Amino acid sequence: MRQAGRYLPEYRALRSRLGLLELCKTPEAAAQVTVLAVEKLGVDAAIIFADILLLAEPLGVGLAFHRGEGPRILRPVRTREEVARLPAVDPQDALAFVFDAIRLARRALGGRVPLIGFAGGPFTVASYLIEGGPSRDFLRTKKVMYSDPETWDALMTRLADLTARYLAGQIASGAEAVQLFDSWIGCLSPHAYRRFVLPYTRRVLAALPPDVPVIHFGTGTAGLLEAMRDAGGDVIGLDWRVELGAAWQRLGDRVAVQGNLDPAVLLAPPEEIRAGVRAILEAAGGRPGHIFNLGHGVLPMTPWERVRLVVDAVHELSQR
Ligand code: CP3
Repeated sequence: MRQAGRYLPEYRALRSRLGLLELCKTPEAAAQVTVLAVEKLGVDAAIIFADILLLAEPLGVGLAFHRGEGPRILRPVRTREEVARLPAVDPQDALAFVFDAIRLARRALGGRVPLIGFAGGPFTVASYLIEGGPSRDFLRTKKVMYSDPETWDALMTRLADLTARYLAGQIASGAEAVQLFDSWIGCLSPHAYRRFVLPYTRRVLAALPPDVPVIHFGTGTAGLLEAMRDAGGDVIGLDWRVELGAAWQRLGDRVAVQGNLDPAVLLAPPEEIRAGVRAILEAAGGRPGHIFNLGHGVLPMTPWERVRLVVDAVHELSQR
């Protein structure tokens, strides 16, 4: 959940020299940031430094990151013709730099902690391609979904296949688990999720080797948990808007859960942070299959020492 990012001084120093895309495309630097976050924070797993939108670039839609406004897609994809014109992409060529970063990060980690690969969920990536950037209500996306289901199906099928091959490539390069970030599915009704998203997510996850754990994450998913579980994943990532114990009860004990501290709690004084950590560990009740995490990414204004404090508190309070 944004292990590396603007809250780390070393990351900011690197970013003052390299753009975000450049950083992602320089495997040595991406691996270095990945390992730096692990060493500085003391976490139990590393996540490769990349972005869910990297696969948009070879699709030729004009991906750009502008400071302070989030990602932009310069040539959004909204019509059947625009979907049909998307070029064929082989992640093995187009995203080889991510695979190289994974190999380098594995070597640098030397088995100290496992390395997680990741990709965006098909809905979340489609939403950026259609909206052209971040959105509050995803109305352009929903308009395509509801009023032009053939175009929606064509786009989601393309993204699902590309994502499956991208994640398989990450696993072949050394990722020991993968996380699917379908961050914005919380804008959907359960019915719409099951009809317009679940089949494509299932297609991505069903294509992966069965022995590699998959974490399936979204935010605002209180109404979607069972549907997310049915789409696939060994672990369901929870945001902070649900009570972890109750959410796990709904999901059943055949899946693990990840979460779910509100990242904003890290802006509070240390005692409040420890209390937040403790409450989540108590909700998990020591059952096997809980991965402690934040409910979403670390906020840019978080002092990095507070992230370390969370990690240390989890280690201390969950000791048996
Ligand atoms: O945790 C890690 O160290 C891995 C790196 C990582 C990044 N993006 C790098 C990044 C991960 C796991 C992501 C995932 C990602 N990217 C998601 C899914 C997770 C989530 O947050 O819901 C999404 C939706 C994106 C798309 C994206 N990339 C957005 C919305 C932004 C802008 C956010 C902002 O705060 O401005 C980015 C840029 C981005 N990707 C940053 C980082 C560290 C911001 C810092 C920078 O510009 O250098």
